[in-house]
Amino acid sequence: MKLASALVALFSASPASSYSPPSCQAVADDYCAKNCLDSASLQARSCDGPMVALESGPGESKRRCYSPSTLSGGDATAYEAGDCYCTRDAELSSLLKQCERDMEIETVFAAGMDNAACYRIPSIIMTPDGALLAFAEQREKDCGDNGTNNIVVRRKEKGGVWGEIRMVAKADGQAYSNANPAIVYDAAGGWSVLLHYDTMNNPSSSRVGANMQTWSEDGGKTWSEAADITGFMPDASKGCMPGPSIGVQNNVPGHAEEGRVYFNCHSGNAGGNAGGNHIAYWSDDLGATWEASEPLGSNFNECSIALLPSSNSSLLLNCRTNAGDPDLDDGKARAEMLLEGGSLAGDAFYPAGLDDPGCAGSIVSRKGAEGEDVVLLSNAVGPGRSNLRVKTSVDSGRTFDDGVLVWDGPAAYSMLVDGGDFVGVFFELGADSPYESMGFAVVA
Ligand SMILES: *[C@@H]1O[C@H](CO)[C@@H](O)[C@H](O)[C@H]1NC(C)=O
Ligand SMILES: *[C@@H]1O[C@H](CO)[C@@H](O)[C@H](O)[C@H]1NC(C)=O
Repeated sequence: MKLASALVALFSASPASSYSPPSCQAVADDYCAKNCLDSASLQARSCDGPMVALESGPGESKRRCYSPSTLSGGDATAYEAGDCYCTRDAELSSLLKQCERDMEIETVFAAGMDNAACYRIPSIIMTPDGALLAFAEQREKDCGDNGTNNIVVRRKEKGGVWGEIRMVAKADGQAYSNANPAIVYDAAGGWSVLLHYDTMNNPSSSRVGANMQTWSEDGGKTWSEAADITGFMPDASKGCMPGPSIGVQNNVPGHAEEGRVYFNCHSGNAGGNAGGNHIAYWSDDLGATWEASEPLGSNFNECSIALLPSSNSSLLLNCRTNAGDPDLDDGKARAEMLLEGGSLAGDAFYPAGLDDPGCAGSIVSRKGAEGEDVVLLSNAVGPGRSNLRVKTSVDSGRTFDDGVLVWDGPAAYSMLVDGGDFVGVFFELGADSPYESMGFAVVA
C-alpha cells in the first residue's frame, strides 16, 4: 500500500497534493540521467537531458525516462510529443522499492510549487473539526531570509488530501515571517483560527517591521485583513519574530487564566549566539488586546510553547540555543523555562542528552498511551541540520528518551501537531539540502 502510493505520487501528473519525498524522485531522475542518454539511438536523435522519470504516455502510461523537450509546457509533468524517451518500467519500479521508507512522508511544499523558489519555516495546527493547516513562508526568489516572502497555507481535511496553496498574507517585497497559528475558543464554545506573524525577518535595533494578526472564521480557507498589533510591544520587542511555534489557549474550566491565549516572540538575530530579547505575550480578551511579559532572557531564541496540565497549566518554552554543537558537549543543546501567571518560574534549564545544531524545533503537550501527561520534542539532532527525531518526556520536559528517527537525511525546522488520536510532524527536508521541501509524517 505504501509502495503503491509512493509510486502514484512519484509518477502521477496531478499537482501539489501528491508529491513524494524528493529523494525518490531524485533517485529516479538520477537513474534516467545516467542510463538512457548513453544509448546510441537516443544520441543519434539529438535527444536532450538531463532526462526525468515520469509515468506517462505515449499510449499506455508507463514509467519512462523523458528528455525535457518531449514534455508538456511549463510544468513538464506529462509526455506531450517526440520520441526522446526510453521505457524503464521494471528498473524504475525496483529503484523505488529501495527508496521506500519506514515512515511515509507526504510532501506538502516543495521548491517550484506555484513558481516560488523555496518554502521554509513550518507551522501546523489542527482545527477542532479535524482539518490540518500547514503554514509556510513562500519565498519567491530564493531560500534566503530576506526577499519577497509570503505567508501561505495548505489545508487537509480529515481523511482528505492536501488542498491548494492559499495565500494568507501577500508581502509586497517584504520578508513576512514566522506564521504562528492558534485555535481560539470563545466563551460560547465557538472557535476561530488566529495567526500571528511579523513583516520583517531578522529585525535589528535600527530596522524593525510590524507584528500582525489575522483571523480565519472558516477553518483556514479565508483570512481577514491583517491588523497591526505592534503598539503593545515593549520597544525592544517591536517587530519581533513570533516562535516559530503555535499559540496556545488555556482551556481549563475555572483556571485563573481560562481563555488566555499565549504566544512568544524574539527580536534580533545576534550572529553565532542565539541572542536577542525574548518575551512571551498573551491576551485575556480573545485577541482584542495583548500584554507582554518581562524580558525572559537573551541567550536563546525560536522557542516553541506548550501548556503543561501536570503543572497547573504553566507555560513551557523549549528554545534554540545555538550552543548545541555535539562536539562541544556543553549540555545546552536546547533551553527550557517555565512561565507561571505570565512570569518566569525559576531559571532556564537544559534537558540532558539532547543534540541540536542551532535550529528551531518544537514541543507539544498531550496524553500518552496510558493517559499520562507527555511532552514530545521534534528537532534535527545532527550532525549539522540533519536527522529529524521525535522524542518523548514523561517528566514535563526535564528528560527525553531517544525517540524515533523520522528522516535520516538533511532536515531543519520542524513543528509537531497533536491530532488527538495521532501526532504529526511537519518539517523541512530534502535529499541534498533541508530546504528542498516541507513534509508531513504521522509519527505516533
Ligand atoms: C533586505 O533587502 C532589502 C532590499 O535589497 C534591503 O533594503 C534590506 O536592507 C534587506 N534587509 C535586511 C534585514 O538585510
Ligand atoms: C494555578 O495558576 C493560576 C494562574 O497562574 C494561579 O492563579 C493559581 O494560584 C495556581 N494554582 C495553584 C494551586 O498553584
